[in-house]
Amino acid sequence: MIFRDDALKGKVAFVTGGGTGIGRGIALELSRVGAKLIIASRSLEHLEPTAREIEALGAECFYMQMDVRVRPTVDHVVEEAIQRFGGIDILVNNAAGNFLVPFEDMSENAWRSVVGIDLDGTFHCTQAVGRHMIARGGGGSVINIVFSGAWQAAPYDAHAAAAKAGVLALTRSLAVEWSRHGIRVNAISPGPIRGTEGVRRLSAGATEADRAGGVPLGRMGEIEEIGWACVFLASDAAAFITGECLSVDGARNQLGRSILRTPPQRPRPE
Ligand code: NAP
Ligand code: COA
Repeated sequence: MIFRDDALKGKVAFVTGGGTGIGRGIALELSRVGAKLIIASRSLEHLEPTAREIEALGAECFYMQMDVRVRPTVDHVVEEAIQRFGGIDILVNNAAGNFLVPFEDMSENAWRSVVGIDLDGTFHCTQAVGRHMIARGGGGSVINIVFSGAWQAAPYDAHAAAAKAGVLALTRSLAVEWSRHGIRVNAISPGPIRGTEGVRRLSAGATEADRAGGVPLGRMGEIEEIGWACVFLASDAAAFITGECLSVDGARNQLGRSILRTPPQRPRPE
């Protein structure tokens, strides 16, 4: 164990997209240090196995279907969490969508889908949970998962880059606005993380050596390493940290994102 196993004892954490990839890793690491977990996304098949893993660690967890783009589904999860666990202390906005497409070929639905998940979804979850935290008066911690596209350029994912830039701006604005409520708002920007859907989609065809080669530390990141950053930011060890974006990327982001990409093969619309 890197952290004390009671570092977040008694805290309740809500992780969006917590059934797969980085979200699953975050949920597992938060539960290892005593947090109770709510995980929610569109697919119950993604959520159920992760909830079982968390329970096997001896932690409490429940999972619910939710589309972050659809506000009533978000409100429903928040209400259920308050009823079952008495409140929410930590929100991790991890759910996201991305795919490579040249901007000139991007349909309005393609744009809306990614911006709807990444930016509108973060608005829905943060406002629903934030209103509860403010009413309860006990403060809280919001952690937004972004990627370096929020401030650095690479071709073919302009929709996700624009959405995450919005999430980063929201992180800073709310850190200031909600300081008076004791709610800290931070972001984490992971580098390429081994075995994840994000890496599979955004660097299809590249080998692990190619992916690691773009990282000054010479390797890809591990899912747990994002979970550990989340535990730190959610804990009292980070009580004076808000409005920050923590890159967990082996200095990848210091190099810029000018990686070689070939255009994805997809016919242009008529
Ligand atoms: P992933 O496994 O595909 O995670 C995305 C999650 O979001 C899934 O669990 C998915 O679950 C959920 N989701 C998607 N649309 C949703 C919606 N409309 N409503 C609710 N949940 C939704 O991909 P990942 O690679 O772990 O990425 C996780 C996060 O890390 C993202 O924010 C991504 O931008 C960030 N990130 C990843 C990397 C990387 O190397 N992988 C690098 C930098 C940043 P359902 O399908 O069940 O809805
Ligand atoms: N290239 C171009 N356009 C694409 C595309 C691609 N690879 N994939 C989807 N689109 C377009 C669709 O054609 C559609 O537009 P249209 O109606 O004009 O044809 C639009 O995007 C919405 O597609 P749909 O499949 O209905 O979206 P959805 O809302 O059900 O799913 C996605 C959301 C598209 C983001 C889907 O890829 C997803 O569920 N992603 C979650 C996992 C993920 O992205 N993980 C990585 C996180 S970094």
